[in-house]
Amino acid sequence: MALLGSVACRPKQPAGAAPSTNGPGSARVAAPLTISFSGAPEAVGAPIGALRRGINLGNGFDAPSEGAWGVVLSETHFEMAKAAGLDHVRLPVRFSTRAQKDAPYTIDPAFFERVDWAVQQALSRGLSIIIDLHHYEELMKQPDSHMDRTVGMWKQIAERYATQPDTVLFELLNEPNGELNPAKNNALIARLIPVIRASNPTRTLIVDSYFWAAPSYLKALELPNDPNIAVSFHMYQPILFTHQGASWMDPEFQTTGIIFPGPGSRVELTAKAKQTSWVRDWMANYFTAPATKNPASPATVAAEFDMVTKYVAATGRRAYLGEFGAIDFADAMSRENYLRLVRREAERRGFAWAVWDDGGRMQAMNVKQKAWVEPVAKALFQDQPSAAP
Ligand code: GLC
Repeated sequence: MALLGSVACRPKQPAGAAPSTNGPGSARVAAPLTISFSGAPEAVGAPIGALRRGINLGNGFDAPSEGAWGVVLSETHFEMAKAAGLDHVRLPVRFSTRAQKDAPYTIDPAFFERVDWAVQQALSRGLSIIIDLHHYEELMKQPDSHMDRTVGMWKQIAERYATQPDTVLFELLNEPNGELNPAKNNALIARLIPVIRASNPTRTLIVDSYFWAAPSYLKALELPNDPNIAVSFHMYQPILFTHQGASWMDPEFQTTGIIFPGPGSRVELTAKAKQTSWVRDWMANYFTAPATKNPASPATVAAEFDMVTKYVAATGRRAYLGEFGAIDFADAMSRENYLRLVRREAERRGFAWAVWDDGGRMQAMNVKQKAWVEPVAKALFQDQPSAAP
C-alpha cells in the first residue's frame, strides 16, 4: 500500500558502543517471549479519566485529505474498538490543511462536522475520545511563523467542543520535533493552555514531549500547576525493529529481517545503514549481544519506561502511552512479542495505552474484514504467547 508520502521522519537515538563483530550466527527466528518482570510493579501512574486501553484511528483525518492514505473512518472502526473491550480512541487530526492560512484561521465547517461525527461515534458507544492535533509539519519546520495559527485553531476546537462531556480529551500537539525544540514547544504550550482554558476550564489536556514524544524529553516540559494536564509519551524503541522498512523513514531504517527479541541472524544492511554509524553499531550489537544485553530486548523497553516512571514519581503528573506499534515487515511472532511486552509494561506501571493503527503496515483492526490482525490481537488481549487466539 502506498503510504504517507511527506511524513516527517523520526530518526532515533544512537545505541551505545558496538561490540566487536563475530562470524555469522546460526539462523535465528523469534521465539515466543516469556515475560517475567522482576521487582515491584512500580505502578505509579494515576488514571487519566476513564482511559485504560485504546487505539489510534490513524491515517484517516491526519492524512492531508481523508482517504489520501487509504483510510476513511467508518462506524466499523468504533464498533470494533468497543467490541474488543477498549475504552477509548485517539483521533489524530490534521487541522492544518483544513484551516485558512490567515487570521482567524477558520477551520473548514464541513471538516469540523466530520470531527463532530467521530466524537459522536465514540461517545454514543461509551468510548472516550482524544482529539489530537496531528501532523502540523510546517509548525515543526518554522515554529515562529505558525504559532499564532496553532493558537487560532485551538481556540476554535476548544470552543466547539466546550460543552462535550469530560470523556472528550484534547491533545495539544502530536510529537513535537525538528525546530519546535523544547524551548519553543514550551512557549507554544504556554500560549495554548490559557486559550483552551478560557472555554474548557477543567477538560483533561494531554501534552507530548519533544522528539516525537520521547520519554527522555518529558523532563524538559514546562507545565502549569493544573491537575487536569497529563503528559504523553510514545514507545517505538528499538526503532530499527519497529520501523524496519517503513516507507516514511529515512534510508538507514530500511534493513528488514530484524526480530524481537534479539539476537537475530545476520541480515545484509542497506548501503545507507552501513554508512550510518549509530545504525551500524546497533546492528552489530543486535547480531551478537546475548539476550540480556541485546539492544532488541525487554531491557531496552524497560529503560524507556523507567524514564517515564521516574518523571511521574518526581512530578506527580499522570502519563499516557499515546502510541506504540511494530510494522508488519517484522515477523508475526516478533510483533506479538514486542506489542505484548510494551502493553504489559504500561499496565504494570499504571499507564493507559493506545496502540497505533494506520490501516496499512501498522494495521491493528482490519475494518474491511471486520477482523483484528492476529499478532496484534494476541498481544493486546492475551497474556502469554502460548494461549490460543
Ligand atoms: C506518528 C506519526 C505517524 C506514524 C507513526 C508511526 O504518529 O505521526 O504518521 O505513522 O508515528 O511512525
